[in-house]
Amino acid sequence: MYDAGKIIPGLIIFLILITFPLWYSLGQSAPVLGYQVETPEIEQLEEKECVESVSYMRASHMRLLDDWRNEVVRNSRRTYINNAGKTYEISLEATCFGCHTNKADFCDTCHSSLNVEPDCWNCHSEPKESQL
Ligand code: HEC
Ligand code: HEC
Ligand code: HEC
Repeated sequence: MYDAGKIIPGLIIFLILITFPLWYSLGQSAPVLGYQVETPEIEQLEEKECVESVSYMRASHMRLLDDWRNEVVRNSRRTYINNAGKTYEISLEATCFGCHTNKADFCDTCHSSLNVEPDCWNCHSEPKESQL
């Protein structure tokens, strides 16, 4: 039988993600989901870029993190080369949270408005928040 309890929230998330460019481009930097991208660290970047394109990150950051974990845990590899040939240290804490220091306003706000609860923080440290 279908598990409506899983399928319906899944569909809602899917629809939100798929229509994201529509309402994201309406012009605000704090879109409907209410999360905040800017941090002092991101302000200081010469090119305001993530490790991959925003559209890829938005849709697939969970897959990227999963690959990163496998690289470290299974293959002992700690360097990631992105699509543009740029290298990054494979580290949730040093790399992702090096720029996204506002986990509460960024990761958590988006996750809680979509009802996603990654259970990574029992083991991995959260960044020390530095707000604008
Ligand atoms: C039970 C504890 C535990 C949980 C829960 C956990 N991890 Fe990890 N993770 C580890 C350990 C241990 C390593 C290996 C650390 C090392 O060798 O540097 C690791 C390594 C990683 C790495 C690569 C190295 C690094 O420091 O970033 C990533 C990325 C990662 N985990 C992501 C995640 C994500 C995403 C989640 C949640 C979905 C998660 N982990 C949940 C224990 C955990
Ligand atoms: C060098 C700084 C930097 C690093 C490292 C970085 N990000 Fe980003 N990230 C950014 C910037 C800047 C943006 C916004 C880009 C834009 O809007 O064009 C962004 C966007 C994102 C988005 C999309 C947000 C949206 O607008 O929908 C997600 C999700 C994300 N990052 C997650 C991560 C994760 C997970 C990691 C680690 C694997 C990571 N980022 C590493 C700078 C970084
Ligand atoms: C634009 C909204 C948004 C932002 C911002 C965002 N996420 Fe997510 N994240 C999601 C969605 C949606 C899912 C669930 C996708 C799914 O279930 O297919 C998710 C899932 C995840 C998962 C996998 C959870 C699991 O239990 O499988 C991890 C880990 C994660 N996000 C980490 C992060 C981190 C770390 C950041 C901040 C650096 C971040 N996310 C920022 C929307 C976001």
